[in-house]
Amino acid sequence: MIALSNINKVFNKDKDNEVVAIKSLSLTINEGEYLTIVGSNGSGKSTLLNIISGAEMPTNGTITIEGTDVTKMPEYKRSKWIARVFQNPLSGTAPDLSIIDNFRLAALRTQSRGLTIGVNASFKKKVKDRIATLGMGLENKTEQPIGTLSGGQRQALTLLMGVMDETKILLLDEPTAALDPRSADIIMKTADVLIKEHNLTAILITHNLKYAHQYGNRLIQMSEGVITKSLDSQQKLALPLTDLFAWFI
Ligand SMILES: Nc1ncnc2c1ncn2[C@@H]1O[C@H](COP(=O)(O)OP(=O)(O)O)[C@@H](O)[C@H]1O
Ligand SMILES: [Mg+2]
Repeated sequence: MIALSNINKVFNKDKDNEVVAIKSLSLTINEGEYLTIVGSNGSGKSTLLNIISGAEMPTNGTITIEGTDVTKMPEYKRSKWIARVFQNPLSGTAPDLSIIDNFRLAALRTQSRGLTIGVNASFKKKVKDRIATLGMGLENKTEQPIGTLSGGQRQALTLLMGVMDETKILLLDEPTAALDPRSADIIMKTADVLIKEHNLTAILITHNLKYAHQYGNRLIQMSEGVITKSLDSQQKLALPLTDLFAWFI
């Protein structure tokens, strides 16, 4: 469970360019919940995810993860529980390293018990089996530098690599914004499967209202640092896609 209590985030406090990005925001996301966030540019969505991951510290307020107060815990200490995928397929992987070596790095980062076997054959087999589930044919390219792959392929691998044994939380910040429609669909489906398989607590930020409607079991809209609409799973299921489009008119 992630619990945010009375979070404020002010950038450049008391300067001419002061920005209040998050305003007295409280939000609880239960284990296994998949929350989708929509909202215009600059509404504070990414800042919220940065505060959860520890990339940004809140100006006020507290955040607990699984009952532990992590408000002052640095990002690297939270990272073994948290997987992140960003808009840019170039962030999240080392382009000159092979697919298999990128998975090794990811396993080291999270100190994942299931994948710390190192260089041997069983590690490779495990990685290949996981990659095969994408249906992109990448399981036969594991020695290829990851930088030679398309954006969609890299993004799919970033997602797979991020979710290790210890992962409890998946944060997706416009993961499909830079992708072609087919790759975008693969990313969204793969994320959905991983969330269910690992019972992850997940947050998706997207401008794709079709995905916002289709995925997740809760939906909020943010505007100027506050939550302006909040739908539970039943309300979300009952929401016609056209109504969701109307939120932005
Ligand atoms: N590191 C930063 N320094 C200064 N201002 C920032 C920083 N990060 C975000 N902001 C500002 O905070 C507001 C919210 O940004 P952001 O969370 O990125 O919005 P969104 O993801 O919804 O587009 C914006 O006005 C943005 O310019
Ligand atoms: Mg953003």
